[in-house]
Amino acid sequence: MQGAGWLQGRGLQGGLSFLESNALVTTSNHARLPRLGLPDLGCGVGFRIPHYAHVFENKPAVDFLELISENFLVDGGLPLKNLDRVLAEWRVVQHGVSLGIGASTPLDWEYLRRLKALTRHTQTPWVTDHLCWTRVPGADLHDLMPLPYTEEAVRHVAERVRIVQDFLELTVGLENTSSYLTYRASTLTEWDFLSAVANEADCGILLDVNNVYVSAYNHGFDAITYLDAIPKNRVVQIHLAGHTNKGAYILDTHSDFVVDRVWELYRHALQRLGSISTLIEWDSEIPDFDTVWGEAKKAAAIRNEVARTVGTEGQDEHPT
Ligand SMILES: [Fe+2]
Repeated sequence: MQGAGWLQGRGLQGGLSFLESNALVTTSNHARLPRLGLPDLGCGVGFRIPHYAHVFENKPAVDFLELISENFLVDGGLPLKNLDRVLAEWRVVQHGVSLGIGASTPLDWEYLRRLKALTRHTQTPWVTDHLCWTRVPGADLHDLMPLPYTEEAVRHVAERVRIVQDFLELTVGLENTSSYLTYRASTLTEWDFLSAVANEADCGILLDVNNVYVSAYNHGFDAITYLDAIPKNRVVQIHLAGHTNKGAYILDTHSDFVVDRVWELYRHALQRLGSISTLIEWDSEIPDFDTVWGEAKKAAAIRNEVARTVGTEGQDEHPT
């Protein structure tokens, strides 16, 4: 499942100079641009500890690597040495798990200061975390808890995202999580909630296509309806992963290959969104690096095929 326990298996990674794209786009027209005007990095993989030795020795020509911010929010030592080895060879994007953007507790400014310093060091073109809450006063649940989908929650989250983006001076991408419960208080669909938050906060979306599939299965909604409803030009990155089907429900384990139906949904998303940086997540029962990279290459093949048939750049200039 997604959460901090699941964090421990995740590793890091880095890149070339993104100085030009590193700053938050502040013009009123940026929402009209594909990916908010941010770059398409190709197809990458999450950098995980079991792969460090192989990656440093073999220097695979993977398009980019995603690192988990929390693994590098330290003052020195081996994590930062590893980070600099990564940054010397690969482009990186940062992904976090403890921002807790939906919580009612105050923003953690010490965390944000460290996060900002890390983004400056890695030159990540954007920074992502989950549209969820993770803590209540006095307790951190170490998991990604879903929010009630209400107008009040939209305003609450959007205000916090704007504050975080202004502080980081970087586009924030909110990831849709997989979930296993809903709230009676919800008045919006998940996709309308995500869309409203992103539009009101003027932020990016990290579209996890596997999470859409998992939650659609668990809650009985239509995944295509979801994919077709989100604001297309706000999607700055896509996640793909495997899961575990328990029959009555699906557990988002990141422990297997991407299933065929998720590949179909990915293809559908690309046909609407154009080419978006795509990242393979594999966080438990982690196979060798080349197996994970093979999934990224499969994503790249689908991207190329879709680009040949419908074009590459977010076909529609009008935000929806
Ligand atoms: Fe994800």
